[in-house]
Formats: sequence, structure tokens, C-alpha cells
Amino acid sequence: MKEGGGGYRNLLAISSLDKDDVLSLLDSARSFAEVSTRSVKKVPALRGKTIVNLFMEPSTRTRMSFELAAKRLSADVVNFSSSTSSLSKGESLKDTAKTIVAMGVDAVVVRHGSAGAPLMLTDWVECSVINAGDGMHEHPTQALLDLFTIRERLGRLEGLKVAIVGDIDHSRVARSNIHALRKVGAEVVLVAPQSLLPRDIQRMDVAVAGTIDEVLGWCDVLYLLRIQLERVNESRFPSLREYTLLYGLTDARWSELDHKPMVMHPGPMNRGVEIDSSVADDVESVITGQVAAGVALRMAVLYDLLGGSHG
Ligand code: NCD
Repeated sequence: MKEGGGGYRNLLAISSLDKDDVLSLLDSARSFAEVSTRSVKKVPALRGKTIVNLFMEPSTRTRMSFELAAKRLSADVVNFSSSTSSLSKGESLKDTAKTIVAMGVDAVVVRHGSAGAPLMLTDWVECSVINAGDGMHEHPTQALLDLFTIRERLGRLEGLKVAIVGDIDHSRVARSNIHALRKVGAEVVLVAPQSLLPRDIQRMDVAVAGTIDEVLGWCDVLYLLRIQLERVNESRFPSLREYTLLYGLTDARWSELDHKPMVMHPGPMNRGVEIDSSVADDVESVITGQVAAGVALRMAVLYDLLGGSHG
């Protein structure tokens, strides 16, 4: 994990981790997953530490998951979201950060609509910074929990064939997953209309397929993404119906498959667009497994950054 200014340790992007960092976080998450199965779901590892969740974009899963992770490590956690804070009165991110830090916190978990906001925060705060999603850039803990889920279910990561289907260009989840999967030796194919592929794709060491049918019989893992309607201008493809025809995991496609891949989705799902409702119900256990893995993985990240004794 990278050291930022002042010697604080941060998690800003998968691209700055090496393979050993990734694997050791997955191993640590495995031991923390056990805590969540106990009747008393708490260890004293971060007792006395204070963590702030600073969310400037809507989030359900990620915010709750970080909050639960902090609480299960016995840290104190404060939630701060832009609609309930002075940010909606025009206060800048910098002023908000200074105010929070004056209160004496050990880590800030930040989600922000602009790529690079967590990196900027590291200059302004004297504590660890964790990126919980910044614009169209990265969402490192999502990729780590996805790798954790895959390794728990399929027993390995190296050599696995993974297809990522959908709105890759607008997706920080895709970007972090591509980096993470390539680091651990998985093969990655992106499936999307040309207009939803990132422009810097040549630098990503991945292949591209034109339709979902080209990868369905090939992949071990099928990772579906939502069309980010709030970021995408619909003219990038003819219509949602057309998108489903070429890229959707429809009931007809799913029922024809002899060897069904493991289907994943970071949520929220657009049922009827990237996945038919009946298929979503069929593969629900993996998708809820991703959510459960999120708590254990975020416990591992918080513990790694903030130290303390493993209880
Ligand atoms: C994703 C996000 O916010 O980047 N969701 C998540 O964190 N579970 C993906 C999305 O919004 O589509």
C-alpha cells in the first residue's frame, strides 16, 4: 500500500498495488470473513481509531459496507454525506476535509464524482485516505472484493478467463477490476459497443469482443456492468433494447448454455437491460456473496492501513 504525504498509508488505486499486496489483502480478508459468522461479530483490532465516511455521491452498498467493516473492528465511525453537510451550502472539499481532520480522525473513506479527488485529499488531511470510488477512475475495494469472491468460489485466479460486459468507459469498477485481474494472471476480455470502450484500451493488456455471444461459451466468469445512465449520453448506442439484444444476459442465452459461467455484478442492477430478471434471480447467491465479501475485504483494508493488534 502506498505511503502518502506525512507517512500515512492510503489505498487510492489498484494500479499502485503490486501482486503481493493484492494477494495478502485477499488472505487477510479470509480471516476477517470468519468474524462475520460469529454471534458476536466484533474484534478489538481498531479500538480507539476513528474513521470518517465522506460520501459525495449516492451509495448504499459501499457506504454500509465500510461502516460495518469499521464497526466490526471496534473503530468509531462517523458518516458524512454531501446532502446533509455544509457542502450543499457551498463549502469546498478542502474546507470540509480540514474540518473533519481537526476533529482528530485516523482515516477518511471518500467517494467523489471527480477522478483524483481522493489523491487531492491526501495533501490536505493528516490521516489515511481510502478511495471508495472517484468519478470514472477507480474503485479499488470493489475490485478486491470481486477477486476475493472469485477465489473463494473457483479456488484460483491465475489463468481464469474473465469477460467484462457493458459500459466499460464510464465504469471505475471495470478499470479497477482490469488492473487487479491482470496483476493476478487472469485473462480479460472486454465486451462492449465501440462507443463504450475506453480510449486508452491499447494500454490495458486486454482483448475485445464484439457481442456477448462471442464470450459466453469461453469465460469462467461473466462480469456484467450497468449502463451508467447518469454519465452516459444515450446516443452512444441506438437504444437500451438494442443494447440488450447484443450484450444482455437474456433468459434465452442463459438457458441454452451447457457450462454456465459464474455471473457477477457490482450492483445496482438494471434488470431487463444487462440481465433478465429471471437470470438475476438464478445467480443471486454470487451477487449477494459479493456484498458479504465486501465487509470482510474492507475490514482487511482498514486493518492493513491503520494497524493495531489482531483480536
Ligand atoms: C458501483 C459504483 O458506484 O461505482 N457500485 C458499487 O460501488 N457497488 C457501480 C455502479 O454504480 O454501477
